[in-house]
Amino acid sequence: MSAEALLLALRQSLGELAVLTDERDLEPYCHDWRHMFKGRPLCALLPRNTEQVAAAVRLCAAAGYSVVPQGGNTGLSGGATPDDSGRQVVLSLARMNAIRHIDVVGETIEVEAGCVLQTAQEAVAEQGLLLPISLAAEGSARIGGIVSTNAGGTNVLRYGMARARVMGLEVVIADGQVINGLRSLRKDNAGYDWKQWFIGTEGTLGIVTAAVLQLAPMPRYRVTALLAVASAQHSLAVLCAARRAIGETLTGFELMSGAALELVARHQQLRLPLTDSAWYVLLEASSSLPGLREATESLLGDLLEQEMATDGVVAESERQEAELWALRESITEAEGKEGRSIKHDVSVPISAIPAFLAQADQAVQQAFPEARINAFGHAGDGNIHYNVIVAPGVDAAALNRLVHDVVCSFGGSISAEHGIGQYRVSEMVRCRAPAELEIARRVKHALDPHNFLNPGKVLPLQ
Ligand code: FAD
Ligand code: MLT
Ligand code: ZN
Repeated sequence: MSAEALLLALRQSLGELAVLTDERDLEPYCHDWRHMFKGRPLCALLPRNTEQVAAAVRLCAAAGYSVVPQGGNTGLSGGATPDDSGRQVVLSLARMNAIRHIDVVGETIEVEAGCVLQTAQEAVAEQGLLLPISLAAEGSARIGGIVSTNAGGTNVLRYGMARARVMGLEVVIADGQVINGLRSLRKDNAGYDWKQWFIGTEGTLGIVTAAVLQLAPMPRYRVTALLAVASAQHSLAVLCAARRAIGETLTGFELMSGAALELVARHQQLRLPLTDSAWYVLLEASSSLPGLREATESLLGDLLEQEMATDGVVAESERQEAELWALRESITEAEGKEGRSIKHDVSVPISAIPAFLAQADQAVQQAFPEARINAFGHAGDGNIHYNVIVAPGVDAAALNRLVHDVVCSFGGSISAEHGIGQYRVSEMVRCRAPAELEIARRVKHALDPHNFLNPGKVLPLQ
């Protein structure tokens, strides 16, 4: 089938306005959030319902065009960006954004893939419930993208990654079949848990069209504090002390280098309540039982007295809480304004964070003396964003190998939460065992034998 014939068939099936081909209309779908990757699809499709997604998949497959699913396009690995072969079609879920049902008793939400995360959070909050996936891009990222990247964020240590929230999925697979598994069961051992195949696989095995997510009670009390600590090792002492003192109420534990906050102060014009420290910890605790503020303040007193922290401030109002979180959540934007940065979204065992940072710093500074390290991340779950600010000519692949070798020497992962996309695909060959890649290829071949869904992403070529 020619491109013209495919476009005609897509227009007949989805409607004229759901098939974008005009250069200006297509522009936002052609590149990633950081403008690192760029492509040119034949068209971008905006289906309104699951049947239209299935019809589009069948038409594209029959015409020999592959499909690149796209949600909010906030991904940081280039997974949602098409190539420039002209043989790909972007399928955006943006118009499928309905909240189908909130079950207050069961604490679940059924939502379409194109619903923005923050919209879903706000809808359940009105019912006294919490959708506990939280990240700086939540105002743009969509549920399908969150599920397909198995997003992490700032409260993984308490609530787990996106996977832990997914109770059921509706998926369109490569042959255009709709698989409806929109169950809201806490227990379900009836055979293979097939929904797991579509979580974190970045649109390479199927297109998520809707999800049932498990919610949690909205905590009645929340305490947020910023601490200055002398070293990453001290931050782990703080983490252990916090776990002992306030236990499961610990919801967020973010580590930020002084360099990261300096970028934020300079580029985002935000005031730093604490200064002159090599490292900072942003700590959040939440609970529905009273006494949390007293317990957290007593913890902070002990941390200062025992010199685990050198300074600290506790937010006294919701506005101050938001100001403290803004420091953390604007690091990515500030880093972008500083110039070219090479991102490493790594995880190591929590206890290895200080040693990893020391070894990576040494390796980077030896090989790239001009590079500036911007390290921060979700230290409470072992995830460090080890980003390196470099001059335009620096060999990114060499820098990636250097950092990832240190990561692997600690038994770590080269993608803690952002996924592999196209950005890290070449590193998969070095950092995952051949047998692991082989079993992944077998799954891909079983579900998508013609490599039609998001080709070139996640899995390196044979
Ligand atoms: P997209 O970028 O559109 O797509 C991401 C991948 O999922 C692509 O491979 C795409 O093909 C696939 N996909 C999208 N929708 C579907 C679907 N319906 N079916 C099948 N495949 C699909 N991530 C974190 O994990 N933690 C963070 O703390 C975090 N912070 C961020 C902060 C900023 C400022 C930014 C810009 C990004 C951040 N991210 C973070 C990355 C990003 O927000 C997440 O990866 C998010 O889950 C992507 O959602 P999206 O809807 O934008 O997906
Ligand atoms: C974040 O946690 O803010 C992002 O995932 C990190 C990044 O942009 O590297
Ligand atoms: Zn992150």
